[in-house]
Amino acid sequence: MTVIAIDGPAGSGKSTIARLLAERLDFQYLDTGAMYRAVALAVHRKNLDPNDEESVRKLLPTLSIDLRGDRTFLNAEDVSHLIRTPEIDLLASTVSKLPCVREFLTKLQRDFAEGRDIVAEGRDMGTVVFPEAPYKFFLTASPEERARRRKKQLETQGEKVLYETILYQIKSRDKQDSGRSIAPLKVAKNAVVVDTTGKTIEEVLTEIIRSMDRG
Ligand code: DC
Repeated sequence: MTVIAIDGPAGSGKSTIARLLAERLDFQYLDTGAMYRAVALAVHRKNLDPNDEESVRKLLPTLSIDLRGDRTFLNAEDVSHLIRTPEIDLLASTVSKLPCVREFLTKLQRDFAEGRDIVAEGRDMGTVVFPEAPYKFFLTASPEERARRRKKQLETQGEKVLYETILYQIKSRDKQDSGRSIAPLKVAKNAVVVDTTGKTIEEVLTEIIRSMDRG
């Protein structure tokens, strides 16, 4: 089992990069954000208070979350599109603060990795879930560039959102993800930091592969 850990804030380009890297190396792609999003969707559907750990804790054993390729399944339903809305963006960040949710998903993520070569993408891959990973990357980009990317992505999905609104949401999500007490977003020891601002996907991929070759 080889794990390549890729962490970073929303919009840093880590999903695109992780997916392409997995394809090129013939590794499995593990999108852990999709798992937090699936939990958020379930919390939303049950109308639970995302800050009420007791009610979320009771919900977790009823959930089966499955990643197949780039599709996400919640209790066998393909929810890949439903988890990519601005509402779920924020809710996923909120439920990800709960220790019971992190524990539940960390186990699922380690089980997924068992016996496989994976590119694991998220916020705490290099710090908490796979601290022994031989390759760790931390992708960043300025909040403004990330907001522009997110706006473009939402537009291709037919959603119209103001740039200023997205920028505000990105900054508040950063604050929430970096400020939480458990597994906050931070650079892991030995991680290679890659600033993707102004770089093409190909440039970032080349930088990552070169750095892996250097070992
Ligand atoms: O990567 P993403 O935007 O799809 O992640 C959605 C939310 O899930 C993000 O705001 C923080 C949380 N998350 C996390 O806490 N730990 C991870 N490993 C992945 C995501």
